[in-house]
Amino acid sequence: MTTHLLIGCGKMGGAMLEGWLDQGIPASDITIVEPNAELARTIAGKYGVNAASGVEDLTEDYAPDVAVLAVKPQVMDQVLPPYKALVPKGPVFLSIAAGKTIASFEAILGNEAAIVRAMPNTPAAVGRGITVSCPNANVSDNQRQLCDQLLASVGQVEWVIEEAHMDAVTAVSGSGPAYIFLLAETLGYAGRMMGLPPELSDKLARATVAGSGELLHQSHESAQTLRENVTSPGGTTSAALEVLMGPHGMKELMEKAIAAATERSKELAN
Ligand SMILES: NC(=O)c1ccc[n+]([C@@H]2O[C@H](COP(=O)([O-])OP(=O)(O)OC[C@H]3O[C@@H](n4cnc5c(N)ncnc54)[C@H](OP(=O)(O)O)[C@@H]3O)[C@@H](O)[C@H]2O)c1
Repeated sequence: MTTHLLIGCGKMGGAMLEGWLDQGIPASDITIVEPNAELARTIAGKYGVNAASGVEDLTEDYAPDVAVLAVKPQVMDQVLPPYKALVPKGPVFLSIAAGKTIASFEAILGNEAAIVRAMPNTPAAVGRGITVSCPNANVSDNQRQLCDQLLASVGQVEWVIEEAHMDAVTAVSGSGPAYIFLLAETLGYAGRMMGLPPELSDKLARATVAGSGELLHQSHESAQTLRENVTSPGGTTSAALEVLMGPHGMKELMEKAIAAATERSKELAN
């Protein structure tokens, strides 16, 4: 039996919880910590998991195999200290908090703690996220496998050994869904500027972004090939791409945007 502790059951923690149950992890093997006692009772009633309103509710002999840290980064340093008592029991701490470094967890939990820093993204809510994970030196192969399995319940999982990559990961996939939503917004806006009824233009933009994402998901072709497939020489797509791929076009803009997000991620970690 593998014992799972989930600290923070909001949007991301809740999506993971549902993924674990769908994967067949028994509800009785999961304990959630949720400070709002009423919400804790509601979640326990809905899913059949055990619920605690704080670390003080966990029994002395409670020894989780994994403690998933899914609270907001701003409160992590206040929430975490009491969980240091779990370290001698040997769990792996799996954090999904944006920007919180392995060193910041080690500073609170000590150098013996096994820690995985992971960065998921919001498509996790529909089981289509991608998470990049980075372990510290104390994480065993079994613990890494366990984290991989838990994160895979909400999408794909990749691992990096160099924690420094996590800033660019945050910029590309962590923040990435916002860029795609912006694409849908601006495509809808541009259609309206060409005289389309607003509702129709937004619907076209939304369906085009969603459908193209699904095509990319299902196809084995690269994004470049899929783009080339819809671009006939001298046609309408080509006319638009000359603008988007011209000077100061999307490539340059995206490079600048990702550099800015990477820089911000570094700043937030310090
Ligand atoms: N959402 C995303 O797109 C996304 C993407 C990547 C990473 N993440 C990371 O995922 C983490 C959670 O984000 P979220 O969007 O799921 O936030 P959220 O919806 O606000 O969830 C955080 C949950 O933690 C609970 N909480 C607060 N204090 C606690 C405590 N002492 N013990 C246990 N639970 C406590 C909150 O309860 P109350 O509401 O009652 O305070 C809330 O239910 C963050 O660290 C974020 O960086 C999120």
